Amino acid sequence: MRTEDGRTIRLKDYRAPDFRVSTVALDVVLEPGQARVVARLRLERGPGVATDRALVLDGDGLELTRLELGGAPLPASAYEATPERLTIATVPATGAFELSIETRLKPEENTALSGLYRSNGIWCTQCEAEGFRRITYFPDRPDVLSLYRVRIEAAKGEAPVLLSNGNLVEAGDLADGRHFAVWEDPFPKPSYLFALVAGDLERLGDTFTTASGREVELGIFTERGRSAPAGYAMDALKRSMIWDERRFGREYDLDVFNIVAISDFNMGAMENKGLNVFNHKYVLLDPQTATDADYAGVETVIAHEYFHNWTGNRITCRDWFQLCLKEGLTVYRDQEFTADERSRGVQRIGAVRRLTALQFPEDQGPLQHPVRPQHYKEINNFYTATVYDKGAELVRMLATLLGEDAFRAGMDRYFERFDGTAATMEDFLGAFAETSGRDLSQFALWYDQAGTPELAVREAFDAPSGTLTVTLTQSLARGAAGTGTAPFHMPVLFGLVSPSGEDLTPANPSGRAGLAEVTAPETVMRFAGLKERPVLSVLRDFSAPVVLRHEQSEADRLVLAARDPNLFNRWRALNDLVGDELRRLTGANRAGRTAEIDGRIAATMIDTAGDERLEPAFRALALALPPESEIARSIGRDVDPAAIHAASESARVAIGRAGLATFERLAAAPADGPFSPDARAAGARALSLAALGYLSAATGDNGPAARRYEMAGNMTDRFGALAILVQRFAPSAACEAALADFHRRFEDDELVMDKWFALQAASPREETLDRVKALTEHRQFSLKNPNRVRALLGGLATNPIAFNRPDGAGYRFYADRLEALDKLNPQIAARLATAFRSWRTLEPRRQSAVEETLDALLAKAALSIDLKDILERTRS
Ligand code: TRP
Ligand code: ZN
Repeated sequence: MRTEDGRTIRLKDYRAPDFRVSTVALDVVLEPGQARVVARLRLERGPGVATDRALVLDGDGLELTRLELGGAPLPASAYEATPERLTIATVPATGAFELSIETRLKPEENTALSGLYRSNGIWCTQCEAEGFRRITYFPDRPDVLSLYRVRIEAAKGEAPVLLSNGNLVEAGDLADGRHFAVWEDPFPKPSYLFALVAGDLERLGDTFTTASGREVELGIFTERGRSAPAGYAMDALKRSMIWDERRFGREYDLDVFNIVAISDFNMGAMENKGLNVFNHKYVLLDPQTATDADYAGVETVIAHEYFHNWTGNRITCRDWFQLCLKEGLTVYRDQEFTADERSRGVQRIGAVRRLTALQFPEDQGPLQHPVRPQHYKEINNFYTATVYDKGAELVRMLATLLGEDAFRAGMDRYFERFDGTAATMEDFLGAFAETSGRDLSQFALWYDQAGTPELAVREAFDAPSGTLTVTLTQSLARGAAGTGTAPFHMPVLFGLVSPSGEDLTPANPSGRAGLAEVTAPETVMRFAGLKERPVLSVLRDFSAPVVLRHEQSEADRLVLAARDPNLFNRWRALNDLVGDELRRLTGANRAGRTAEIDGRIAATMIDTAGDERLEPAFRALALALPPESEIARSIGRDVDPAAIHAASESARVAIGRAGLATFERLAAAPADGPFSPDARAAGARALSLAALGYLSAATGDNGPAARRYEMAGNMTDRFGALAILVQRFAPSAACEAALADFHRRFEDDELVMDKWFALQAASPREETLDRVKALTEHRQFSLKNPNRVRALLGGLATNPIAFNRPDGAGYRFYADRLEALDKLNPQIAARLATAFRSWRTLEPRRQSAVEETLDALLAKAALSIDLKDILERTRS
């Protein structure tokens, strides 16, 4: 692992590569305990590069065993090989030349899960962002595009399946029970999209015929005996393929598309050309072991990785600063897929909840960075909510500003112009500027200025003339990562609603009705000829990623919460009302006063939950309280997480009591029939579990949840009921019995065991910390498996009470485990370390406990660059 090198890489220093690599022939020989890799590269000096410039290739922890230039071994004096770098002073000044590099790897010892590693006996690779340099020396940067031919050799018994990118061109048996396969990828690609998999895998096969008639062989590879639960993933894949043809005119381009499910994986999945590699969590599903949320997650990730084939692979990124070019755009595409396949309104609410819960704290704290960062130390630390989710919001704003047809025309131009190249954000925006004839230079600021802008809305109604004046003021806090605070170009969708819910939005002669284009610091809109004062519904569909400050009366918000024709704003009005109440209750709590949630707000929630005309998934969302972390962020300073938790609890009890009859009716498990994971059925289950939660809070009786647990016919119900027991009724015999039963039933299923670990870590009590400590010693816990680590330690990090114990014990234990984890897997350690990102908003006692913990950890000698980078930025 690289620990010494902590250089800052800057966007402004970008230079084209000195050497191009036209072809890569990889020969990988897999043996127990070691792998030998021979890479034969055809290189050529780039145009205009000085003829005496040395060839410098990237490495990471490599051991060079042989080196040839132009077919002849190189004398040791002609090159310098360190684990991090291969430098050859003299290579041909002009024309192509061949370099042959042999390295020796130890996949079994690779716990970082980057490069070539073994997971449950399966050899696999992970090369994004800079893992290829852990396999061989290479110009490991995304603007070097090459054609790959890959030969894999292994013992047939150990690895009957040998896979790489592209098409299989040759395979055969060798002596001693060994065999080989040769794969060729006809599309030039950067090294980060290379992949190889070898192991004893089972295949679920299918076929897909593209719009132009190409037959594609689809395969999902899993560990033996686990291909049956890949059926839903296969279905999601085929739906993704059709959707991309219809919505964006994008067809698949190879004869084969393979997916492999792997147990030990650093993230969700990886879009390697023609060979996507997945965390098995996003492939394997059945009703007994997976929740509705798991089904939705599989659908999203399958779609996301498939969509990368065009947005990421056919058109890739010039450099890692352009990461949002592929990630923001691909998240936008997967969100649109989900909206079309499920429910647009519900999908939008979910995406915004995610954005405000994950991206807003990042954008408003010490880990703040622009969607296109301008510098980094460790690129793996920039696979963030800002790049992914805010990046998607920027694409969405572009689509809103231009309208559907002009947006599609710009996308078509982008695909046509940049196919086969490594592009930049300027290239992307340029395609839209060209096809629409619009000036997008102010819009482009969104990519470079960090921070969440505020949008303040003021209203004035002049009754005699029937004129409503709306003033929109945008601002961006000074000091937003030093990247500028100039006004943004943003679409603000709005409507005017009568108190009875009629849409009064006037036509707009110069643009689309209900769309305001905000470019100035202050924008004034006037609506004349109104018979009565309308209710303003602003920032519909969350049309721009801003913090909205709209001083709106409770009466107006209650109208919107009950009747806004825009489903998103209906949800937000309710959510904001409840959020204000939770802030008020938190304040009362800290002042030692008791307070109750406003009865009208509770009633609106209950009415919405009981409204049969609305889709059940929306009604379930209406019952969700704003996350406690969200309340903390909006309070912004001197935060006491325990007081916020207590406020949420008291609101839950009060709402439960007020709506007892409704919740009793809704909490009855939805009618039994054959299980279906579709959005409607899932929505019904979500609603009934939300109701069960309120019922349990109101009565303090664990009976209904315990019975629901026992009777459950699917994992959504079983886990939902168990969650209520653990969240609300721990410690108790009923809770312990259910946890033990759950373990007995599912102990052999790794993915379900992750839920078991995560749930216990999330029980909101200070004593949970001791439970988590004990669970780190459990025979089924390992720091080597990222899913398990995320379940237990990640679960603790989101536990408002146990993590934030006022004595600091939660922080200290967490930091201690991060240090141990860092030695095995720096990427995961760094990611978990972001749990401290909002520490400066905490009240003084907890704040100094975090400070001491961070300083103690930073004082340790052997931290990885990854972890150190996050800790240093968090501390600053
Ligand atoms: N490109 C992947 C995606 O968003 C994510 C990714 C980046 C990744 N680095 C990774 C996945 C490392 C696994 C491991 O789809
Ligand atoms: Zn992605």
